[in-house]
Amino acid sequence: MQDAFGADLLGWYDRHARAMPWRVGPAARAAGVRPDPYRVWLSEVMLQQTTVAAVRGYFQRFTTRWPDVAALARAPDAEVMAEWAGLGYYARARNLLACARAVADLGAFPDTEAGLRALPGIGPYTAAAVAAIAFDRPAVVVDGNVERVVSRVFAVEVPLPKAKPRLAELAGGLTPVQRPGDHAQAMMDLGATICTPRNPACAICPVRPHCAACAQGIAATLPRKAAKPTKPTRHGTVFVARREDGAVLLETRPAKGLLGGMQGWPGNDWAEAPAPALPPLDATWAAINTPVTHTFTHFHLILSVQVAQVPQDAAPMRGSFAAGFRPETLPTVMRKAWEAAVDSGLIAGA
Ligand code: ADE
Repeated sequence: MQDAFGADLLGWYDRHARAMPWRVGPAARAAGVRPDPYRVWLSEVMLQQTTVAAVRGYFQRFTTRWPDVAALARAPDAEVMAEWAGLGYYARARNLLACARAVADLGAFPDTEAGLRALPGIGPYTAAAVAAIAFDRPAVVVDGNVERVVSRVFAVEVPLPKAKPRLAELAGGLTPVQRPGDHAQAMMDLGATICTPRNPACAICPVRPHCAACAQGIAATLPRKAAKPTKPTRHGTVFVARREDGAVLLETRPAKGLLGGMQGWPGNDWAEAPAPALPPLDATWAAINTPVTHTFTHFHLILSVQVAQVPQDAAPMRGSFAAGFRPETLPTVMRKAWEAAVDSGLIAGA
């Protein structure tokens, strides 16, 4: 099973590997070119919970600004967080920096899965992915794409998340000793382009002869998933103050918790019911008509936005006025609040 499956998969990858800025394609890899572990690691951290399309621009900006791990390790936290803004799951950015600094202290990335796993901020997925892709170690790399492919190849009908250990075990059985890095990337490419969630292209799939779900006609129904609890809704208020000189009132959110370490508008804690909120400075506040909505992993948020134009000598009780404000340095929900504030016509743009 492993040999025939692996040969068909790698043969397909040799012909159809997607070009990516961090990837050494199969032909170059066979010619002895090695991937840069820094670029592999950075891309894998960025790609968790995020699509390749969304990551490309961020990867480009990060590697232009910080071309190696030592440069990233020296970067101030706030600059890295601002550059990460919009990618979401901000704990990843904090872990990224912790890891970069540990690697800079070591002098290089460890080249084994266990060595990588011992770094701060590197979880089992990232350690396996970097070990396989950067160092061609036979680590078992399991992301959502791989779970989907494996659940279909073996027609696993146990629902996720209960099936996770079994799927990892089956993925391990498919992992070859030869070219494990290309194998890992081929599994992910297959999941992203052919073995897709809703309409898998089984007719052109290179591993169709090995796929039990395809034979049974149930590929599109796998992996099964346990019903998720419905997301609750929370409510909050933010205050967007723009000073005469165009500076805006921002504060850095606490390091722990949602959007931790990111810049945002002062406001109240988000709660199950709308609650009064204390403005960060005395001004004539006006609410915009339509609240901002945003969905996080575990809840929906309805955010009221209060807006004020304030005089040059305004004295805030929290936060500080930031000149040269760039909305793209804010997490998405805060950027939406800014755009809604400007669209309301109650304040001028940046
Ligand atoms: N998704 C996450 N990591 C990937 C990789 N290395 N290749 C393709 N898709 C991916």
